[in-house]
Amino acid sequence: MKFFIDTANLAEIREAYDMGILDGVTTNPSLMAKEGISGDANVKAHYKAICNIVDDKVSAEVIATDYEGMIREGKELAKIDDKIVVKIPMIKEGIKAIKYFHSEGIRTNCTLVFSSGQALLAAKAGASYVSPFIGRLDDISYDGLELIAQIVHIYNNYGYETEVLAASIRHTMHLIKCAELGADVVTCPLKVITGLLKHPLTDSGLAQFLADHAKAAGK
Ligand code: E4P
Repeated sequence: MKFFIDTANLAEIREAYDMGILDGVTTNPSLMAKEGISGDANVKAHYKAICNIVDDKVSAEVIATDYEGMIREGKELAKIDDKIVVKIPMIKEGIKAIKYFHSEGIRTNCTLVFSSGQALLAAKAGASYVSPFIGRLDDISYDGLELIAQIVHIYNNYGYETEVLAASIRHTMHLIKCAELGADVVTCPLKVITGLLKHPLTDSGLAQFLADHAKAAGK
């Protein structure tokens, strides 16, 4: 399973990359705003800075919601770096744009997916990634993980190449369950990735090993 980090914060991206387990980055307009990035030139420069840290796959989202606008913005984003994946919202015009980018060999990530029907449309249009939002479904009392299971099942039935990119991940159990269900990718905040490290028996076991070593050495 691939690990993407869901942030536009350069320090967090660097920290995750330095751990040696990072496969990509996802951003969205809210995450860019959180970092105080605005204006076309600044946004593009920030995407370039992210691309300079990671090896590949940096999702950069279009703001336009009409077909022509998405094509124009998507082409601009793709020009920033070969690592860019153009993120397109799950709307009718978005499906047309995904189809276009697929024919041009430009990778896309279909975002704001909340049903298996939407995921089916994204795959048929040729999206490279589909992003079902688990946490936001859980927030309104739907089972986000059940959606991951449905999409993985449907894609396996037909051999779609679109990768299931589980998004809106809030905690480590979301991530682990996505791995069990066969999601291709998870994207999550750094704290979810580092949360995987934690186990009290690891901490107490390590403390004991170090204490025993010191005792044997007469320290
Ligand atoms: C990623 O592509 C999504 O934009 C992101 O995971 C949404 O997460 P949130 O629901 O925590 O905002």
